[in-house]
Amino acid sequence: MSDVKDAKIPSATPGGPPAPDASPPAETGASGLTRRLFMWSLPVGWTAFAAACASSLVASARALFPNVLFEPPQAFKAGVPSEYNVGEVDVRWKDAFGVWIVRDADGFYALIATCTHLGCSPNWLTAENKFKCPCHGSGFYRSGVNFEGPAPRPLERARIVLADDGQILVDKSVKFQQEKGEWGKPESFLKV
Ligand code: FES
Repeated sequence: MSDVKDAKIPSATPGGPPAPDASPPAETGASGLTRRLFMWSLPVGWTAFAAACASSLVASARALFPNVLFEPPQAFKAGVPSEYNVGEVDVRWKDAFGVWIVRDADGFYALIATCTHLGCSPNWLTAENKFKCPCHGSGFYRSGVNFEGPAPRPLERARIVLADDGQILVDKSVKFQQEKGEWGKPESFLKV
């Protein structure tokens, strides 16, 4: 005779058949673990997928709309010579084109408003009769020649000619440097 007794499943009703177990079986073993890992990995995977799509969209947008540096035009017309007074430094063109037009007794020259030290934009000081750079204090005579501060050389001049319609034409793509002897070239100065 065996010592082991059959375990009896309790009946739902007294004297009735054993009650079925209502709760679902717990996930156990390797298959349950795999299923839980799979369920957890779904949101992680979708998040990674969404992030990859977003970065791809940003890259496409940057390719469609690249960063463009808008620079002022290199050449412009600056009115007729009679608009200028002898001895005047005309500052009207500085903000839009980065140039001063100077008229002396013989004609015109166009100074490029870029400091030859580190590239800041000097100001014309009428009362002191000079260009002064706000960055490190370089000073330039109205001719453009440097005389104080760290600027190593004069301001550059731009090509200046008379256009067919009688207006002054300034072209910054052609520059003249005093230290190279270029201020003597014909289009560095406009005789009138
Ligand atoms: S940039 Fe003009 S003095 Fe330095």
